[in-house]
Amino acid sequence: MKIQKIGVMTSGGDAPGMNAAIRAVVRASYFHKIGNCIGIYEGYKGLIEGDFVELGPRDVGGIIHRGGTILRTARCEAFKTPKGQEKAYENLQKNQIDALVVIGGDGSFTGAMKLGDKYNFPIVGIPGTIDNDIYGSDFSIGYDTALNVVVEAIDKIRDTAISHNRLFFVEVMGRNSGFIALNAGIATGALDILIPEENHKPDQFFSSIEKAKKAGKHSSIIVVAEGESPGEKVNKLVEKIKNKGDYDIRVSILGHIQRGGNPTCADRVLASRLGVLAVEALLSKKSGIMVGVSGKNSSFTPLKEAIDKQNKNKIDRELIRISDIVAI
Ligand code: ADP
Ligand code: F6P
Repeated sequence: MKIQKIGVMTSGGDAPGMNAAIRAVVRASYFHKIGNCIGIYEGYKGLIEGDFVELGPRDVGGIIHRGGTILRTARCEAFKTPKGQEKAYENLQKNQIDALVVIGGDGSFTGAMKLGDKYNFPIVGIPGTIDNDIYGSDFSIGYDTALNVVVEAIDKIRDTAISHNRLFFVEVMGRNSGFIALNAGIATGALDILIPEENHKPDQFFSSIEKAKKAGKHSSIIVVAEGESPGEKVNKLVEKIKNKGDYDIRVSILGHIQRGGNPTCADRVLASRLGVLAVEALLSKKSGIMVGVSGKNSSFTPLKEAIDKQNKNKIDRELIRISDIVAI
């Protein structure tokens, strides 16, 4: 079947660069003479409710530099039910949408795979999450921007740490993935970095803090990846360290500032590339896949593999070694 109308949505957590991806999908559709796209508001929620907008090339002007998503996004429990999926498919048919581009994370891709498999409907995913935890692409849209936001924030925290001889624990996002913590930690000269991929012991932190003190350091930054429960890990760790010595400790939880702001150049370029790639993948009859980048090349990963829990996007363990060497 010839594709004549492509629907595009953003789903799950927003990520800077999602707008650049929407723009690329719409303009690639125009370039390949498919015509206008249908933007679906608020992810699967809008798909179920039929909350749609027609998007031509001019409608996506002036958004490449904006964070968030003009289509807004949502987490939608109703779409997990067969009834919700049936309603979503009905709306696709009613609006003559014959292919879908879903920009989001692994949850969004799970929904996409279910819909695609159940109704034999062409769907391509674009990885959009600051966590960079999607298997099949070296980078996901939003990750580079979040990293730069974190680096800027920690640089500022460092000023106070140095001025007051303080020990700062900074919690960063990433859920079960340590990409943001590890890379931002190295870039900001963190004394230690706690990531979900490693089994850390509080004693290990204590000995590196003591070592730093002996080496003449008056202040330090320790970066902690949030894990499943924001605030929990960092506060537990601080409780343990507090009782072991006389430190002027502060905790800073960076929170949602990490998801906001204008996308970096790298995220705009990545989003533009993946948006075009997604449309061209659909036109070449690829479906049930995610587009991504691997080294210098484009990659196409079956959604089934991209969401498989065994297939985590792995951090570079060499960076852990490097962070240990340069910390002191
Ligand atoms: P992300 O895409 O950022 O990982 P979520 O995990 O919150 O975000 O998933 C986004 C949405 O994808 C969910 O709110 C839901 O609508 C849909 N989704 C997630 N898991 C499933 C599932 N098992 N079946 C159907 N839809 C799902
Ligand atoms: O997946 C992106 C992310 O920002 C995670 O890093 C974080 O754990 C989570 O979303 C926060 O979700 P919410 O915006 O629902 O609090």
